[in-house]
Amino acid sequence: MSNITNINYRRRQFLQYTAFGALTAALPGLVLSENRVLNNKPNSAFKADVEIDLIARPTEVAILSGKHTRVFQYHGKLIKGPQAALKTVPGYLGPIFSFQKGQKIRINFYNQLSELCITHWHGLHVPQIMDGHPMYAISHGERYVYEFEIKNPAGTNWYHSHTHELTGAQVYQGLAGMIIISDDVEQKLELPSGEYDLPIIIQDRNFTHDNQLSFNLRRHDRMRGFLGNSILVNGQVNSLIPVKTRAYRLRILNGSNARIYKLGWNDGTAITAIGTDGGLLEKPQNLPYVMLAPAERVELWVDFSGRKPGSELILQSLTYQGTHSTMGRGMMGNGSMRHGMGRMMDAMGSGFGQDEVIDIAKFQIHEQVGDSPKLPVELIPMRRLTERDVSQPDRTIPIAIGMQHMSFQLNDRTFVMQDYGESEKIPLNTIQRMKISHDSHMMGGGMHGGRGGMMGMMMSIPHPIHVHGQQFQVLSRRQSNPEKGYESIKDGFIDSGWKDTILVMPGEEVDIIKPFNDYTGLFPYHCHILEHEDMGMMRNFYVS
Ligand code: C2O
Ligand code: CU
Ligand code: CU
Repeated sequence: MSNITNINYRRRQFLQYTAFGALTAALPGLVLSENRVLNNKPNSAFKADVEIDLIARPTEVAILSGKHTRVFQYHGKLIKGPQAALKTVPGYLGPIFSFQKGQKIRINFYNQLSELCITHWHGLHVPQIMDGHPMYAISHGERYVYEFEIKNPAGTNWYHSHTHELTGAQVYQGLAGMIIISDDVEQKLELPSGEYDLPIIIQDRNFTHDNQLSFNLRRHDRMRGFLGNSILVNGQVNSLIPVKTRAYRLRILNGSNARIYKLGWNDGTAITAIGTDGGLLEKPQNLPYVMLAPAERVELWVDFSGRKPGSELILQSLTYQGTHSTMGRGMMGNGSMRHGMGRMMDAMGSGFGQDEVIDIAKFQIHEQVGDSPKLPVELIPMRRLTERDVSQPDRTIPIAIGMQHMSFQLNDRTFVMQDYGESEKIPLNTIQRMKISHDSHMMGGGMHGGRGGMMGMMMSIPHPIHVHGQQFQVLSRRQSNPEKGYESIKDGFIDSGWKDTILVMPGEEVDIIKPFNDYTGLFPYHCHILEHEDMGMMRNFYVS
């Protein structure tokens, strides 16, 4: 695309979108590639090291005993490259991709669903046209060719559907998978590898009595985001993982639509984090627990040395309180709640908090081995960005979480496919400071009484904010309203590494610093509670 001028390019995008909308409305099923940026042909000048066919299709898999479950699944086929680049996993998730920094990747994405679909490589730094922006969604039978070089350092990323207004439903039905990247710096560390390097993709689901996924979104589900009552790890329930008495590397991805986990070990063992969204940390960090919001990743080091064969260590989600949860209960107590609203507040009141300990995965010691790698003291060198690196020192780009008309917004706007405002224009090759704010007092007096109950409840929802493109760093986090709920989660943030998704609590202001190098174009930023994203809590940055 680099040989197309910006003006031409944007004009083509515009045509693509209008033509697409109008045509599909008038003649459903008609595929017209005129005027559309349908990147459906490989570029012969691009010499791929790894080539993969990736097909999104409906299928049935065994998840629970008895009847199979209808899902959407990414089916992968390695066309070129090392065998290890693609690993199929049991269950409904897509294959795990393992790439090396510097490799050139071609992925031929085929949509065999009877609805629109497009795939995004979450965390990867790629050009606009390779990023899976929802404007590139393809119809049944179409192909979209992705070609990009891996610029990211070693770390754990993922891919998932990014179809406008359908992301929640499509990811829920299975359209997600993990991307592992490795590089030389990481390999020198000799971290646990092979069978000692485990993907842990956590999702929650609801099943009907005949084993089908249910995704019924009542109004409050949409507000709070979908919460399921079964926990799945790597697409399976009751996860039991046999391990040896040695150290492991766990790549944990929260692939849930909306559930926020407070991860800890059942016996009180400290969490040892070695990586976040964007890759390894400078050095391992110990925490009592770690908060993991949708789309966030954390890599843990866990050493089972010295544990008795037959014993278990359980990764759990611990209890925490939602901020403002007391308000909901208080209101119910004084009888100002009515019927439907009461039920909604009920669900919300215990809502963001989690009153129950949930078992995520049981690690069962089944074999004693002699020795184990030692946890490195230092991991990777990291260039720490500071205020001095900001290219436009007078500018702070706002990402203000808000709501209007019973819907969440960013900077007072909802998503429009190719729309961006003045504050969303970013000069190429700059480093920007951004302020993500979640002002829970925004509603002022509206917090009490009638309508305020609903508003207050909505304002008390935390939002994991994700920005496409390069990873960012956290400059600071300020909580203007610390209270009991916040106390129960505040020690679980890892703000020292590279991030692409950050959990922002009510009353919080998080300053981040982010480079916008290499690629011009439209890059979305949004809440990664998929129900919020689908209701339009998403905007574009336009880099030029
Ligand atoms: Cu993981 Cu724009 O998303
Ligand atoms: Cu992304
Ligand atoms: Cu949100």
